[in-house]
Amino acid sequence: MDGCGRSSLALLVLIVLGVSALENGLARTPPMGWLAWQRFRCNTDCQNDPNNCISEKLFMQMADIIASEGYLQAGYSMVSLDDCWLARSRDAQGRLQPDPLRFPSGIRALADYMHNRGLTFGIYEDYGNYTCAGYPGILGHLQIDAQTFADWQVDYVKLDGCFSHPADMDRGYPLFGHYLNQTGRPMTYSCSWPVYQIYAGIEPNWTSIINSCNLWRNFDDIQDSWDSVTRIIDYYGDNQDSIVPNAGPGHWNDPDMLIIGNFGLSYEQSKSQMAMWAIFAAPLLMSVDLRTIKPDYKAILLNTAVIAVNQDPLGIQGRRIYKDKGIEIWARPITPVDQNYYSYAIAFLNRRTDGTPSEVSVKPAELGMTYPNGYTVTDLFSGVKYGLVNPKNIFKADVNPSGVVLLRWDLAASHDNEI
Ligand SMILES: *[C@@H]1O[C@H](CO)[C@@H](O)[C@H](O)[C@H]1NC(C)=O
Ligand SMILES: *[C@@H]1O[C@H](CO)[C@@H](O)[C@H](O)[C@H]1NC(C)=O
Ligand SMILES: *[C@@H]1O[C@H](CO)[C@@H](O)[C@H](O)[C@H]1NC(C)=O
Repeated sequence: MDGCGRSSLALLVLIVLGVSALENGLARTPPMGWLAWQRFRCNTDCQNDPNNCISEKLFMQMADIIASEGYLQAGYSMVSLDDCWLARSRDAQGRLQPDPLRFPSGIRALADYMHNRGLTFGIYEDYGNYTCAGYPGILGHLQIDAQTFADWQVDYVKLDGCFSHPADMDRGYPLFGHYLNQTGRPMTYSCSWPVYQIYAGIEPNWTSIINSCNLWRNFDDIQDSWDSVTRIIDYYGDNQDSIVPNAGPGHWNDPDMLIIGNFGLSYEQSKSQMAMWAIFAAPLLMSVDLRTIKPDYKAILLNTAVIAVNQDPLGIQGRRIYKDKGIEIWARPITPVDQNYYSYAIAFLNRRTDGTPSEVSVKPAELGMTYPNGYTVTDLFSGVKYGLVNPKNIFKADVNPSGVVLLRWDLAASHDNEI
């Protein structure tokens, strides 16, 4: 164990509370919803592929499923456009407009469709001359575009950063946030600002980012592979000292979409992504075809015990506290809390590929978990209840190759010990 224990995790809470942040009342827990990009990309060919092209029909179908098949109940409340919804030019008044063939009812009608089903509605734009796929960007039109989004009853704005100068973003992202605020309509603000600056070798101004954005991207776009997921996990672990303290209610690190249920992840790997995104306090943005997702994968996305960890009200992002020979242990402080003692979500992540489970064995005290009454331990995927584990007991679990065991360690009541 590398000795990162309870005292240093407790210290992080103080740092988080000391950060001043965007206070638009939104995203008090990580946003949850559905985003088109990773699964449907920029497929605009409605002629030949009418069921999968980026069109209002696709978003309406997803909304119907989210509202009626348990996703909304589980917390996935937002449906968002990504790139390629726009027409190639602005209208005569300089306003953005959707592609007329693919969004014939208009964006306001699509937002109404979501709201009528108890969902919120997200939109995509880009702080540049063009979006990443080459549609009109917001540069030169910040105020009018913010107002257009408000007029359309948008609830969430993802602002990408292609075709712009990363150095300009320190001014531009806060300015667009200001115009969003000035509309009077609360809109969750998702920024790509830090990742473009990191790529350009610019040290992001986290103070300013936290003050302007509800969530932001730190690293590469996710691709449909386990390799992509593990590179994101490594980035978050290797850079945790600069990343983790920035997360908290209203302001989150965004490691990008959930690819669970698509082509690239096995069942074990899908549980691993879900578990790690819960440890990261990450936005849970599904990007999967909900019309055809297989039941096992749907069950992972709808695991309410894992979602409860993700949505824990403390909003403290977890850290990698052990890494050796392909085994990692990650810990996230969660409620309930008693004085300086936290409950924890603990992930045992097995990065090994030898074809049999690996046994992971820990003493809670070695992880810095020293609550005198001990912890009641539950496996959040299998549902197995391990009962009371004291800080000096040894706890063991078998973890499948490229799989995870996600455990909840709740502070035990004192009478749990009086057996
Ligand atoms: C955006 O377009 C304007 C007008 O053509 C140009 O002056 C500016 O340099 C462009 N900005 C970027 C970031 O390419
Ligand atoms: C605008 O900003 C103020 C000050 O931070 C905040 O109190 C208010 O809720 C914001 N309004 C909207 C609509 O975001
Ligand atoms: C970061 O941004 C804040 C404004 O939010 C500013 O006061 C501060 O000087 C900036 N820091 C650096 C290093 O530029």
